[in-house]
Amino acid sequence: MVRFPDLAFDAALSEFAEDVVAGLSAQPRTLPCKYFYDARGSDLFEAITDLPEYYPTRTEIGILHDRARDICAQLAPGSALIEYGSGSSIKTEILLVAGDFAAYAPIDISPSAVDGAARRLRRRFPDLHIEPVVADFIGDFSLPASLDGLPRAGFFPGSTIGNFAPADARALLRRMARQLGPGAKLIIGVDLRKSPDILIPAYDDAQGVTAAFNKNLLVRLRDELGAEIDVDGFRHRAVWNARDSRIEMHLEATCPQTIRVAGHDVAFEAGETIHTENSCKYGIADFEEIARAAGWRALETFVDAGNLFSVRVLEAQ
Ligand code: SAH
Ligand code: AVI
Repeated sequence: MVRFPDLAFDAALSEFAEDVVAGLSAQPRTLPCKYFYDARGSDLFEAITDLPEYYPTRTEIGILHDRARDICAQLAPGSALIEYGSGSSIKTEILLVAGDFAAYAPIDISPSAVDGAARRLRRRFPDLHIEPVVADFIGDFSLPASLDGLPRAGFFPGSTIGNFAPADARALLRRMARQLGPGAKLIIGVDLRKSPDILIPAYDDAQGVTAAFNKNLLVRLRDELGAEIDVDGFRHRAVWNARDSRIEMHLEATCPQTIRVAGHDVAFEAGETIHTENSCKYGIADFEEIARAAGWRALETFVDAGNLFSVRVLEAQ
């Protein structure tokens, strides 16, 4: 594994630098979307969830409000609720009110997000055991030992699963099935395929919040890795890829330029792009296929009246 000497004192920073150099050296150029989420990125994501164009959050919250009792009826009483990519844990409160939970473990790569959420939830649910975990859920990490022996309910809302290409989504779901164990449940939010007339504005809003969220990756390269980079020399682009049924976010160089990062020079022609995120959109049957192949049996699927978004309850085989 390549280590960058001046960054070697901080393993997380060194891994960030390695991923950036690998992504920018590849063709097409990419950056992993998990790096959107530092404190500023988490705040920008929260601002996105309030945008009129960004339908997923309010639609999923609507489904959870309407169906919380039906969802919780599928879970063993006294379960540990284990949330992957918990962010602000706003949706979690709906389940915690409706169901019977002994513990809650929010897992997120963004320390500011889990810290803020845990503080708020401890005030609202003083009797609930809350044990936050700051971790990359793609990698190896252990669940808190205090959850041992409790029945397990995973929660993976927001259609964060859509940020993984189908083969990677299958691998992640398989890993969750192994981590949560046979008989565990998983409540997962999955965005549905729909017209690009709805999708494009949701990922390229009029106020430019999504553009700032996308460009935050470049801000992190500059501020954390000391990259020489003209952040304003890139513009946000959201593209519907019909073949792969996904919205793609890109950063496009507006003029010829070079990013110098961790001792590497990466030259861009005007119009060249960095692919920063996929957000896959599924048909109902397509997703069930992926879940089944990853060791999950579908118990229930809830969809809003506008057929925009789905919340599924799965059981690990
Ligand atoms: N669950 C919330 C937030 C969704 S945004 C909701 O539904 O609104 C995606 C969240 O996943 C962010 O909080 C981000 O920090 C987290 N995240 C993204 N990639 C991650 C990874 N690889 N490991 C852990 N957390 C991750
Ligand atoms: C977290 N994830 C599911 C969001 C999405 O819709 O793909 C991230 C996001 N990207 C742009 N806007 C929101």
